[in-house]
Amino acid sequence: MTESDARADASAFGNYQNEIYSTSLQGTLPNLPMSFAELEARATRALPPTVLPYVAGGAGDGYTQRANVAAFNHWGIMPRMLVDAAKRDLSTEMFGTRMASPIFLAPVGTIGLCAQGGHGDLATARAAAATGVPMIASTFSVDPMEDVAAALEDTPGFFQLFTPADRELAESFISRAERAGFKGIVVTLDTWVTGWRPDNLEAGALPQMQGHCLANYTSDPVFRDLLGQPPERDPRAAVELCARLFANQVTWRDLSWLRSATRLPLILKGICHPDDARRAVDAGIDGIYCSNHGGRQANGGLPALACLPDVVEAADGHAVLFDSGVRSGTDVVKALALGATAVGVGRPYTYGLALGGTDGVVHVLRSMLAEADLLMAIDGYPTVRDLTPAALRSVSPAWDPW
Ligand code: FNR
Repeated sequence: MTESDARADASAFGNYQNEIYSTSLQGTLPNLPMSFAELEARATRALPPTVLPYVAGGAGDGYTQRANVAAFNHWGIMPRMLVDAAKRDLSTEMFGTRMASPIFLAPVGTIGLCAQGGHGDLATARAAAATGVPMIASTFSVDPMEDVAAALEDTPGFFQLFTPADRELAESFISRAERAGFKGIVVTLDTWVTGWRPDNLEAGALPQMQGHCLANYTSDPVFRDLLGQPPERDPRAAVELCARLFANQVTWRDLSWLRSATRLPLILKGICHPDDARRAVDAGIDGIYCSNHGGRQANGGLPALACLPDVVEAADGHAVLFDSGVRSGTDVVKALALGATAVGVGRPYTYGLALGGTDGVVHVLRSMLAEADLLMAIDGYPTVRDLTPAALRSVSPAWDPW
């Protein structure tokens, strides 16, 4: 395939709108929402009342969660005319693998509970397989990681690790992920203790404490040895052991052990300070994941987008994944222009999953990619490489519609 053929293929993302218009002409209007506001509103009605606060809620009064979203409005994309943008290339390279698109599915524990039928991890993996959009599979999963990896088919998957306090168990998770075919390990740093989440507290609901989404633990031989009995015999004891092992803070002292535990690319999630990014790269980490967990962990922080440019500079050419507040293809384009290698989608796909299972996730991903693709066409930035900070202008907060 020539480079121009590859670009012609990639430019097909925008064609999703043609499909929708022609189906509508035949009398069938889209049954899934076209805007994030409608997606959120309908998912709010569809999600079970015990799951909704966990998915939609943030830490504290939700300031950081809202700021993540609003931060995108502080940047405007400068249109360039007379550029040949008839063919676009939205592909990006990460850890030596070329990805068809620059977005990925961020790890969301409890997606298992969001799909009708209760197997949302598998439904999401099937959406990844259908779109080629990589998935980062959470430690908290209704189905074990081996089944999630199998459902991904040829689409790259990464395993997200909440590093257990027991190193043997952590190593078991990592080697299972390697054997299952995941392409990297994403270690989440900001969630060794749960943030203060008033919505969850009011509903009295933390799914893991109710015994949900623990399949990676209960299927693990090391966990089962530690438990000393089959988890089915005393499910409460299994949940309590999970909770004890979960509460484990990874510090700089643990990095050399984590590094030695896998030959896969190691990515640290939750890095927002450039000094942390620099030190992680010096410690042999392959990728930095700039994120504040969608404002679910610590309230009162900076929007993650505001941290991104300094983290990119400090990462010194290493891959920088980004999420927190991404709601549209426009947001994807802005994050790429600020230096992200790839951009993570979190709540939007979770809402798509709640409304339409695999089809709902596919719709959300295709809509985001179509919007990004058409924006790059109209504004004259035909490839991801063309998206640099020079494509953006900061906009006075007076323009901020929020
Ligand atoms: C998350 N996130 C998350 N992150 C992680 O590393 N492991 C996990 O298991 C989870 N679980 C989880 C559950 C739910 C319900 C949500 C909404 C999020 C955080 C996730 O990967 C990502 O950082 C945020 O979703 C980004 O914020 P927005 O864009 O979704 O607001």
